Amino acid sequence: MEAFKMTDNVMGFRFGNPVETGVIQGEKTQVEVNLPIELREEGGKTTFTLKLTENDRVYGLGPNLGGINKRGRIYESYCTDDPLHHEDKTTLYGAHNFFVLEDDDVATGFFIDFPGRVKYDVGFTTLEELQVEIHGQDFGIYLLEGASIKEIVASFHKLTGKPYMPPKWGLGYFQSRWGYQTEKDVKKVYETFKEEEIPLDGIYLDLDYMEDFKDFTLSEERFPNFKDMALKMKEEGVRLIPIIDAGVKIEEGYPVYEEGIKGDHFVKDAEGKPYVAAVWPGKVHFPDFLKEETQKWFGDQYKILTDAGIEGVWNDMNEPAIFYDETSLQEGVEAAILAQGGNLNVNAFFSLRDKFMNIGNKLEYYRRFFHEIGDRRLTNEEVHNLYGYMMTKSASMGLRKHLGKRHVLISRASSIGMHRYGGLWTGDNSSWWSHLSLNLRMLPALNMSGFYYVGADTGGFGGHVSGELLTRWLQLSVFTPLLRNHSALGTRVQEPYAFGEDLTRANKKHIERRYMLIPYLYSEMLKTYETGGMMFTPLAFEFFGEEAQQAEDQMLLGEELMLAPVVSQNAKGRYVYLPEDMVLVDFKKYDSSLTLLKDGVQYVSYTLEDLKFFLRRNRLLPYTMPSQTVKDQDLSVLKVLGYVDTEAVYVLYDDDGESFGYEQGKIYKTTLYARKLENGGMRVEAKSNHPDLQTVNFTLMDGTGEIWNEEVKVQRG
Ligand code: GLC
Repeated sequence: MEAFKMTDNVMGFRFGNPVETGVIQGEKTQVEVNLPIELREEGGKTTFTLKLTENDRVYGLGPNLGGINKRGRIYESYCTDDPLHHEDKTTLYGAHNFFVLEDDDVATGFFIDFPGRVKYDVGFTTLEELQVEIHGQDFGIYLLEGASIKEIVASFHKLTGKPYMPPKWGLGYFQSRWGYQTEKDVKKVYETFKEEEIPLDGIYLDLDYMEDFKDFTLSEERFPNFKDMALKMKEEGVRLIPIIDAGVKIEEGYPVYEEGIKGDHFVKDAEGKPYVAAVWPGKVHFPDFLKEETQKWFGDQYKILTDAGIEGVWNDMNEPAIFYDETSLQEGVEAAILAQGGNLNVNAFFSLRDKFMNIGNKLEYYRRFFHEIGDRRLTNEEVHNLYGYMMTKSASMGLRKHLGKRHVLISRASSIGMHRYGGLWTGDNSSWWSHLSLNLRMLPALNMSGFYYVGADTGGFGGHVSGELLTRWLQLSVFTPLLRNHSALGTRVQEPYAFGEDLTRANKKHIERRYMLIPYLYSEMLKTYETGGMMFTPLAFEFFGEEAQQAEDQMLLGEELMLAPVVSQNAKGRYVYLPEDMVLVDFKKYDSSLTLLKDGVQYVSYTLEDLKFFLRRNRLLPYTMPSQTVKDQDLSVLKVLGYVDTEAVYVLYDDDGESFGYEQGKIYKTTLYARKLENGGMRVEAKSNHPDLQTVNFTLMDGTGEIWNEEVKVQRG
């Protein structure tokens, strides 16, 4: 074991010879200290147990099921493609090994730097124990101390590096569906958004734009004018964002396959031959994204897309998902032939059924292919959680090189470290009310892991959505940096205009309001880039007391807002816990209404057309008027809503929205200021180096409930 001091509050411990994951950044100073936790080794696994007192809470573990407080369940870090996220699932698409254990006095952060499977039994088997089981003996453990969870999270972000920052257009509204099969389908969606005047910044393209599901090909038949269409739409501020899958179709004459073979870029089976699995295109090979040359090679393939006007991509099936492999299919077929004409007993029937029902993503597949790392040859299972991360790194390098400006990039599989290269969507959820509330609960854990450009498939991917559920979902998603409505082939269509006049009007208003909030959301993202920390914070991280700790259906956004979306069917409103006095905002294009509410539990009515949230005391919320696309946003007049009891400041961050200048600190900063004067007046100021900004309109409520409307010219500075 080797111990390192990373900072005053962060210690690292390294056991055996771990695979370099690239997650930890910064200097390590070797020290002589023992890990203050007892490790047990058995059967190649390493376990440790943390005692949980009655009041301990556990937060983090990334995109998982369960509550914001993770107690009471088992979770596994092992990127898995499983579209049915029922209550009892333990793994989803992401594997994020960071969690914080907190009681009322102390908080400790834990990061397990290990790319294989890690299991967390958080008070499930034994109520007062958190058991961690690492499937290996070579790993790092990092312990983070701090005065609060927020402080620990901020030092974790320093330890793991700055996050991916999308271009500003990435904060627009995106329409997607696995089912837009032709250029005509896509155009129709685009035209309908225009006709209905619903804001739109892009349409995601699923599998059908490709030729036979082959990565980096464009279907001549279904998308004959791909480039033309992409460029024309882009001029209007609407981008196309195509999908890329991890598997490369095995087909003679297909350049990506041939180059991959020639360049030795595919993962190998036990005999040293490229491993064959089956996914959408039929038989495929998987690029070995863990090799640097392969990352470069695959990254360069994105040039085909950037040359066609593309500035954003979604990387999919990169757990990697496997429908079947040759060995398992053969076993299934042989078992079926044997069973033919027979009279199967129960065991034989279930065994046969299992051969086909569970043929996808079997554990043994990931033991049948290998990665060469240095002089080691490791099964994919041993380094599994690096695969999607490294595919995203590869895409990020390629897109950055070939585009020369920022791109949208989201991935389905993820692990910590990937946050530096791309964002993510939370995978194949369903059109279930429970997944709407799950979406809310996942947000803070994703921020804890360093991921900010995140969102769920709004409306739900699988299953049929009701108009009511879609609208309720939009009322939450308008606050998430990635706002994409996506659904599966064969499900009910779910564009915002698909549910009749009333809901179309409501959905349009929500999307417009999203565009109004972009200055604030974008500013919060730039701030997290600069300082780390969280955008979505559970009430428990900020306020004391049982009520705050248990508020699992509310969330703070930035330091300004509290969200309390409706997440149940047939609701006309909901009870909201206010940890302090707040102003309820009924947010509208013109004349938002403000109501001062006392702390405690309040009932708030919330119709499908409303967008409501809460402004915290002495906070300001900047926003702008809606536009059809992000490119058309007019920042000359900024609006501000505020709750100003004594004094409030907000520094609005902005930049050119597309260059990498922010990495060198090229950020416009606008200081908005309001103060309640002794004589009863309200003083407001705005100072900015933003070239576009001219005027700021403040609408402020003071501590007595009085409203102040003030307009100021922006001072330069
Ligand atoms: C996967 C993706 C989903 C996509 C589908 C077809 O299930 O998660 O978003 O629509 O594949 O490409």
